[in-house]
Formats: sequence, C-alpha cells, structure tokens
Amino acid sequence: MGKTLPKPGLRPFLPDDVPVLAAIFTASIEELTGDDYSEQQQQAWMAKAESEEFGKRLASDLTLIATLEGSPVGFASLRGTDHIQMLYVHPAVAGQGVATMLVDALEKLAGGRGAKSLSVDASDTAQGFFAKRGYTAQQRNSVTINDEWLANTTMKKTLGAAQ
Ligand SMILES: CC(C)(COP(=O)(O)OP(=O)(O)OC[C@H]1O[C@@H](n2cnc3c(N)ncnc32)[C@H](O)[C@@H]1OP(=O)(O)O)[C@@H](O)C(=O)NCCC(=O)NCCS
Repeated sequence: MGKTLPKPGLRPFLPDDVPVLAAIFTASIEELTGDDYSEQQQQAWMAKAESEEFGKRLASDLTLIATLEGSPVGFASLRGTDHIQMLYVHPAVAGQGVATMLVDALEKLAGGRGAKSLSVDASDTAQGFFAKRGYTAQQRNSVTINDEWLANTTMKKTLGAAQ
C-alpha cells in the first residue's frame, strides 16, 4: 500500500545463478504468457530450463541480471553483437520497469560492440513491450520445441546516436 519499491540493480551473470534464473524463466512463462500460448506450448517452452544447454547459453551469451535488494528478479542476454536472445522477468515484479532497465543496458552494450541495430525474436507476450521501444516487426516465425509449435516475431530496432 503505497510502499516505494527499492530500486533495481544490475549485475553480470555468474555460473551459480543458473538455478534461480531457471526458476524465473519458468515462473515468467507460466504466469505471464497464458493469454498468448496454450498450456502445452508453455510446458514445452518451460522445459528448456531443464536442459544443460540453458546454463551453457547463458554463460556464452552476455547475460545481465536485474536484482531487487540483491535477489535476481529478471535477466536478459545478448548474443553476438546484435541479437537479444533472452528476456524474462519474474511475475511478482512484472510491470515495474525491470525489463526496461535490462533492455536499456543491452542496447547500450550492443552499441558499444559496434552494432548498428538490434534484433529479437519476440514472443507474442513481449511484442508490445518491444514495439513500444521502437522495434518493428520483420517476419513471423514458427519454432518447434519438443513437438510443440510456438510463434514469435523477429523485430528490429536501429540503434541511433541517442542510445
Ligand atoms: C515481456 C516482459 C519481459 C516485460 O517485462 P516487464 O518488466 O513487465 O516490462 P516493463 O515493466 O519494463 O514494461 C515497460 C513498458 O512496456 C509495457 N509492456 C510490458 N509488457 C507488455 C506487453 N506484454 N504488451 C504491451 N506492453 C507491455 C509496460 O506497460 C510498460 O509501459 P509503460 O512504460 O508505459 O508503463 C515480461 O512480461 C515477461 O517476462 N514475459 C514473459 C516471458 C517472455 O515472453 N519473454 C520474452 C521472450 S522474447
């Protein structure tokens, strides 16, 4: 009731973060994507957190973690110089600017790596978020995960001098 939330922080990924990031990933899919994906699609998507590949990719990409009072509440990763690979925010803190902070930081890092534009294969849930930030839809994709087909949209933003 009118309580001011503590300001979120940002830090780089550490190998020990994998279990907590897997928990954020599954909670975020389970609670935030239900209007856009079926339960079977959500289950297939969430199961990605159980593979060894999940932690390996977080480690090999440039992964940033958003924290509230020291605890991870969201994460995002940059693949190469110009592709946002992951963006997941815990449902308990959704709508409070955590994704904005993460993507602001990735856009600056991508610009620093020389990228002229940044792309993302945005989930139907995240499409409005990216559109609001100036990303425009390029193409619709269908990806198959464990026999389930999930749609997403490749979106792209030109990184300007104002980044
Ligand atoms: C999409 C997601 C990352 C947004 O995280 P968030 O921390 O709630 O986003 P923010 O609070 O920073 O939102 C910033 C702005 O985008 C808007 N926004 C957020 N989600 C939105 C959505 N689904 N549709 C339209 N606008 C959205 C917010 O209303 C806010 O607008 P405002 O600044 O005018 O208030 C989060 O909903 C999520 O984790 N979704 C499930 C996982 C997923 O689909 N990940 C994307 C994979 S590409």
